Amino acid sequence: MYKKIILGAFMMLTVLSAKPNIMILATGGTIAGQASSANATTGYKAGALGVDVLLKAVPELKNIANISTEQIANIDSSNMNDEIWLKLAKKVNQLMNNGNIDGIVITHGTDTMEETAYFLNLVTKGSKPVVLVGAMRPATATSADGPKNLYNAVALAGSKNALNRGVMVAMNDKIYAARDVTKTHTLNVETFKAPNAGEIGYIVDGKAVFNHTVTKEHTRNTPFDVSSLMSLPKVDIIYTYSNDGSQVASEAFVKAGAKGLVVAGSGAGSIHENSKNYLIKLLKEKKVFVVKSSRVGSGLVPISKEELNQGFISANDLNPQKARVLLMLALTKTKDPRQIAKYFEYY
Ligand code: SIN
Repeated sequence: MYKKIILGAFMMLTVLSAKPNIMILATGGTIAGQASSANATTGYKAGALGVDVLLKAVPELKNIANISTEQIANIDSSNMNDEIWLKLAKKVNQLMNNGNIDGIVITHGTDTMEETAYFLNLVTKGSKPVVLVGAMRPATATSADGPKNLYNAVALAGSKNALNRGVMVAMNDKIYAARDVTKTHTLNVETFKAPNAGEIGYIVDGKAVFNHTVTKEHTRNTPFDVSSLMSLPKVDIIYTYSNDGSQVASEAFVKAGAKGLVVAGSGAGSIHENSKNYLIKLLKEKKVFVVKSSRVGSGLVPISKEELNQGFISANDLNPQKARVLLMLALTKTKDPRQIAKYFEYY
């Protein structure tokens, strides 16, 4: 009888004190960057150090999680490509189905972190926390932000509170939803913001606190599945501006095989007539799908009846680089502009 009680209590304690099993997938970035001096925070090489070096800088990680690692790539994220995205997505989906893994952290450069996060938010299928993390100062800098960010990301990925929230970004003590987050400053550590929605929570002393729930559909509730894909449809971005000459870019992109174009419009998504007339011609000839977004950085892009009839699609409040991700995935499912427009409402 006593033996049973002691054994029961022991098992309960073991369960309560069990550390989560976290897989870190490393892809490079400034968090793995190396500079020639501790004072240098520019002009360094991003993606220079392996994930083992990043772990060594945060010995406290072993107090909060059992960590395993895999180096997926080691690049400056400005060079991110579809091949690495597909590799990452397939790996994350494998880990979602691995009963020995509780959460996933992806170390990543900050330049395109928002695009990778949103891509994974749409194509990975599971409820486990997936957290992207990076740094604005290289690992060799005085007061590098990477170690603290990594500690926070592991704590977040191991938190039961973080289940079912879609892919997240953990930077500078804050938690952002993948769909809403964007980089807003070239150098400052407080660079990530979510201009339309705000951050969803924060991390303090290894505890994740959530203030908002994510309302847009993600992960298991999207139709996008890249498990059998080896490539993604080509979608490019054009930018409108005074005396716009981007018609030349549109023409070249379509010639090079673009199936979709996202326009970074001015204001509420306006497009200079030089460019718009050419886009209308492309739409009439069914050469390409065109999504209107805005270069402003926040806010919704409305669409008129006339534009709808011409075939234009609104990016909703996605910025151009995120609208591109959704249009690529939409084109893996449908060629119907009305259906694509619906995707832009839901995701
Ligand atoms: C990169 O995106 O790989 C370089 C910049 C950064 O990580 O902050």
